Amino acid sequence: MSDPLFEPLQLGELNLPNRIVMAPLTRSRAAQPGDVPQAMNVEYYRQRAGAGLIIAEATQISPQGKGYAFTPGIHSEAQVEGWRQVTDAVHDAGGRIHLQLWHVGRISHPDLQPNGERPVAPSAIKPKAQTFVSAESGMVDIPEPRALETDEIPGIVEQYRVAAENAKRAGFDGVEIHCANGYLLDQFLKSDSNQRTDAYGGSLENRMRLPLEVVEAVVGVWGKSRVGIRVSPTGSFNDVHDADPVETYGELAKRLNDLGIAYIEVVEDSFQGNHANGRPQSVIDVIRGNFSGVYIGNGTYTADEARERITAGQTGLASFGRPFIANPDLPERFRQGAELNEWDGSTFYGGDEHGYTDYPSLADQQR
Ligand code: PHB
Repeated sequence: MSDPLFEPLQLGELNLPNRIVMAPLTRSRAAQPGDVPQAMNVEYYRQRAGAGLIIAEATQISPQGKGYAFTPGIHSEAQVEGWRQVTDAVHDAGGRIHLQLWHVGRISHPDLQPNGERPVAPSAIKPKAQTFVSAESGMVDIPEPRALETDEIPGIVEQYRVAAENAKRAGFDGVEIHCANGYLLDQFLKSDSNQRTDAYGGSLENRMRLPLEVVEAVVGVWGKSRVGIRVSPTGSFNDVHDADPVETYGELAKRLNDLGIAYIEVVEDSFQGNHANGRPQSVIDVIRGNFSGVYIGNGTYTADEARERITAGQTGLASFGRPFIANPDLPERFRQGAELNEWDGSTFYGGDEHGYTDYPSLADQQR
């Protein structure tokens, strides 16, 4: 029988040779100063070009959008040039790669912000969360953010638009809008972090307004078939919560369907996979029912669970995070049913090539 993981799939204009997506993964290894992609990042993505699609790590769209030390950006010429080396290497190796566009909102710290300013958010609500400020300070508590003025919102949309243009110049195949995991767009969308009384808060229509304006701006740059979005309906990472995820994400899926974007990637449960209660099937069902583009399921998938859910029509593609950190040739290992390397959590964030580009491929191990 043919393996469902290796049935090709058309994603917008991209023909994916398999259903195995590399999930966006923060690795905090951009060159300093300047948060610029560098040679080891080129090698890391090149090694993983066997994915049906690579979604490159969350990348700040502007200096204000930065929330952690050593994460890369897409707002300077040096960053565009750095990413160009990455996309060239992935394409030369036969792969496809999107960039994830990221504004962290309140998940930041004045030490990471231009002129030491306070991070911005829909509302001045301090999250119970931490961020990584510097090698010296390590993880620190996040202070109360400043609520964005209504007249600042067009400037935020503009940051996304410019970043989308920069991603195009850097040679990506498309972009994914990060609307998950408690960052800016998720802060607007979810009911508890958005207490605004203007047109960008209150009703669901208003809470969706900024995410949808961003999608429209990015579609204006890329065309709808090269744009995707990532959401985490039931995730609580970074201290967010939505009172009615079925309603919120069902309606969002409808609106995204009207805009005609290529895919929705769904974090099915919490960040880093808390599946004690199983996948949130009612939310998955309403998104699948309302959105006719490609659905990408994410969260502690094994190869066999991905095969089952693809065959059952529960997901189109499956994205893998930690297994892709430890296995540069993950699709080949899945194809052969080969053993997987184990990941080392101590080298996920920051550092050098160790725990980054030195995980062996099957070919390395057979030498
Ligand atoms: C992180 O840097 O820890 C991080 C970044 C983006 C996410 C989730 C976690 O979506």
